[in-house]
Amino acid sequence: MIEPQGDLKRTDYCADLSEADLGREVVLMGWVQRRRDHGGLVFIDLRDRTGLVQVVFNPQEDPETHERSHAVRSEYVLAVKGRVRERPEDMINPKLKTGRIEVFIHFLRVLNTAKTPPFMIEDHIDVTEAVRLRYRYLDLRRPSIQQNLIFRSQAAQLARNFLNQAGFVEVETPVLTRSTPEGARDYLVPSRVSQGQFYALPQSPQLFKQLLMMAGFDRYYQIVRCFRDEDLRADRQPEFTQVDLEMSFIGEEDIFELLEALMVEFFSQLLNVELPRPFPRLTYVESMSRFGLDRPDTRFGLELVDVTKIVAEAQFKLFADVAASGGIIKAINAKGAHHYSRKQLDDLIEFTRIYGAKGLAWIKINPDGWQSPIAKFFNEREKAELAEALEIEAGDLIFFSADQPRVVNEVLGQLRLKLAQDLGLFRDDEYRFVWVTHFPMFEYSAEEKRLVAVHHPFTSPLDEDLDHLETKPERVRSRAYDLVLNGSEVGGGSIRVHRPDVQERIFRVLGLAEEDVAEKFGFLVEALGYGAPPHGGLALGFDRLVMILTGTDSIRDVIAFPKTQKATCLLTSAPARVVRQQLLELGLKVEIEGAKTDG
Ligand code: AMO
Ligand code: AMP
Repeated sequence: MIEPQGDLKRTDYCADLSEADLGREVVLMGWVQRRRDHGGLVFIDLRDRTGLVQVVFNPQEDPETHERSHAVRSEYVLAVKGRVRERPEDMINPKLKTGRIEVFIHFLRVLNTAKTPPFMIEDHIDVTEAVRLRYRYLDLRRPSIQQNLIFRSQAAQLARNFLNQAGFVEVETPVLTRSTPEGARDYLVPSRVSQGQFYALPQSPQLFKQLLMMAGFDRYYQIVRCFRDEDLRADRQPEFTQVDLEMSFIGEEDIFELLEALMVEFFSQLLNVELPRPFPRLTYVESMSRFGLDRPDTRFGLELVDVTKIVAEAQFKLFADVAASGGIIKAINAKGAHHYSRKQLDDLIEFTRIYGAKGLAWIKINPDGWQSPIAKFFNEREKAELAEALEIEAGDLIFFSADQPRVVNEVLGQLRLKLAQDLGLFRDDEYRFVWVTHFPMFEYSAEEKRLVAVHHPFTSPLDEDLDHLETKPERVRSRAYDLVLNGSEVGGGSIRVHRPDVQERIFRVLGLAEEDVAEKFGFLVEALGYGAPPHGGLALGFDRLVMILTGTDSIRDVIAFPKTQKATCLLTSAPARVVRQQLLELGLKVEIEGAKTDG
């Protein structure tokens, strides 16, 4: 049954055929999408990566080949030879690219048979993601996923060409290395030769790209895999790809200029969308104040308004108490949403609890007055001031959050996104970039009970804040910037420290002991001492960017072989146990309860 391809050569891809090919003799190879037997004629939709074309077996014209076509089933791999013809008027399929033509077959070879696949190979299938990932090679046959990966390849190509033309040198950096502090947990690889010692897989090539600047390469880039052992989300994978770059003798403006030009190129070449430039900029402080988050979705308003001053003296004890204890009260105005039901309001209150809200006060602005559990606590002056600050009109729905600033911003920032979604305030094919700048250098980590770097410890403080490094570290702003697209952080970077003395001071503020610094980053501090140029860079989250560009909502849809939320690969069953001999060679013993080795 299975026949060799022999010296048969494909002449065309299936969906490349058109009316321009009428009368041509073609050889096609591909998979059987569907076979229909109309008693007389047999129709097969043949599929390759370009799409489908209908091939026809006619018992009158070629009884032998027609007979052979009866054995064919879904997903069989065929080679067919035939002539391109026009479809009869009533058989034209306007939904199919090749819907006006078909190929009459007079030669068929079955290059392989196939078991019945566990799901249909088509775009809209009703099957769990677990099954799709288990049979990823079948899932990848589906046109939408294939298109995503082809798109991804084009995007990578475009980035390469763009950066090559801009004078960047592509340099590969090690995968077996030591820890790079990007804030996640490391994946470790035990060494056989140096037993008891471990490599870390890089969370990014951060230190190597800085060393390349010190080595004089001036402009570096790499499309590179990064590894982070962190809690996974819809836009996070344990291994993901960065378009990573670094430049010498530059400042923030050079990075913004380069990246904006690259984004403009991406959007015009890949989506035919012209992006306006320059991209707007927000400082971290402004972003937090107006949007509650450091990655604002600027496609819609619904901004946060600080009303602490207005309500601090109100009869409502809760607000007064929060204001008196250094907290803040902020509000957002959901325009036209006064129709929300009690149940919808309760659901929103529940939603904000996830982000630490202790409560969520609301006021409905009905045509006949304010309706709210708390409206009675405000006097006329306070009401008038609220109305002005929040631009209140009949039909609005106002939400309040009172707490420490960190909680209020997170709660209302997330509520803002949820409301915008529920109220349909944005479109998916609208693209709003924004640069967020001047992040704080440090933040306090309750877990580690010390200051940690917000970006990474190689980020330069603002020159004018350098004097406060030791005295008021939490007030020091950094030269870090993020590139945000539609509320998603698609890139991040900074101007780096290039002076060894400053780098050492930062390590000290971070509470790293001298020995620790010497042990972990001694090579970097040493290299800084041999003439490091001023430098800086950025890394784009390539998967995230492609995800937004292709309009998918899962990062797994743009990665050929992704991992699950639990960081497992359902196709290969990684991670897996290893045989005892392998552990012995590594000098390792597994002591975790229930964990066994094979063999
Ligand atoms: P950062 O940690 O901000 O910076 O990472 C850069 C970008 O990578 C993307 N990203 C991820 N994408 C998918 N899954 C993940 N787990 C994941 N983690 C991060 C984000 C992010 O903006 N070395 C610095 C860059 C620099 O300073 O030049 C760095 O790695 O889109
Ligand atoms: P209570 O007095 O606890 O019944 O709260 C009165 C109203 O204030 C309710 O609508 C609560 O949801 C709301 N509320 C409680 N705590 C907060 C808070 N921290 N911020 C905003 N509103 C709150």
